[in-house]
Amino acid sequence: MTRVPEIDPFHAITLSALAHRLAAEGRSVIHMEFGQPSTGAPREAIARAHHVLDTDPMGYWESQPLKERIARHYRAQYGVDVAPERIVLTCGASPALVLALSSCFAPGARVAVARPGYVAYRNTLRALHMEPVEIACGAAERFQLTAGAVAALEPAPEGLIVASPANPTGTILSGAALAAIVEVCRARSIRIVSDEIYHGLSFGEPARSVLEFDPEALVVNSFSKYFSMAPWRLGWLVAPEDRVAAARARMGNLFLTPPALSQHAGLVAFECREELEGHLAVYRRNRDLMLEALPGWGVRRIAPPDGAFYLWADIGHLTDDSLAFCEALLRETGVATAPGVDFDPVEGRRFMRFSFAVSTDRVEEAIRRMTPWFAARMEAGA
Ligand SMILES: Cc1ncc(COP(=O)(O)O)c(C=O)c1O
Repeated sequence: MTRVPEIDPFHAITLSALAHRLAAEGRSVIHMEFGQPSTGAPREAIARAHHVLDTDPMGYWESQPLKERIARHYRAQYGVDVAPERIVLTCGASPALVLALSSCFAPGARVAVARPGYVAYRNTLRALHMEPVEIACGAAERFQLTAGAVAALEPAPEGLIVASPANPTGTILSGAALAAIVEVCRARSIRIVSDEIYHGLSFGEPARSVLEFDPEALVVNSFSKYFSMAPWRLGWLVAPEDRVAAARARMGNLFLTPPALSQHAGLVAFECREELEGHLAVYRRNRDLMLEALPGWGVRRIAPPDGAFYLWADIGHLTDDSLAFCEALLRETGVATAPGVDFDPVEGRRFMRFSFAVSTDRVEEAIRRMTPWFAARMEAGA
């Protein structure tokens, strides 16, 4: 009988459940464990949703205007032409990833991913009976993939998942680095799936889309991060012409359509740039505050994030058990964070991830609480 694949738990969810229990007991908790904006959907998008609720009975639906708006976004932002027919609307990036992988690769396929990387890459691959091939990416590479590392994989995998800005590090691949990876993949017939969910959230140069370099790549994206609409469960997949029918068939059978209400709101969210850029300014300030604080905690081995809202911190001077460390931090200070083991099953015991997608006053309060806590830990270890 074929074996049912084992899937790792997401430890941050366990810690988050503890954080909510502590809050229910009356403790003051600051949530830095999930990459989830605390701001809610843009005001105009919410207003549109109210109007739709009052006037439209709704049904299963894939919004043509939204697909056309997304296509326009690719032309304006990246200078690439994407026909609306190549866009499949999904219930977030998570199902888009399932569609991308399952419409390109067969069970048993080897698909390379960066380590550290988003926990769901390796677990989604396993759930689909595919084999994640982890590429160790160290501090010297700012925890990102390099063309050399992809070229060195033997045998060549069938696929590669690229993420820029990446989770858990927020680091971005330059255009040249992304082009070089695409070149290696082209030469070795490796199909690229690019997770561009953190696009729009860059502190310097904007992130480049893989579609600027490789029209055959698949792109996963979502309204969960830049658009601050995670609970609306809306995202999209861009598929090349030869895979789009396969992806659309899977969407219809596995998930039907994304929520109609979210599609109406998502279309309006594209026009709410001013409000959304305001969130980015908050994340930039939060990032700077965290980067100022970390050296005082002995946390010096960090790759400053170029985008997203994460900081991947090496806490090897304090622990070799990040799960226990994050739990103690939560119980003793009320600050919830994510243990590195979620993102790196090999080295993650000496890393943790801070998400600074909360308001600046929450970050300031978290730093106030964590500074003496880390100092005490350093003293105890000295
Ligand atoms: C890198 C990455 N990809 C995909 C997702 C899934 O996002 P969605 O809410 O769009 O399903 C997340 C969520 O945190 C993520 O960090």
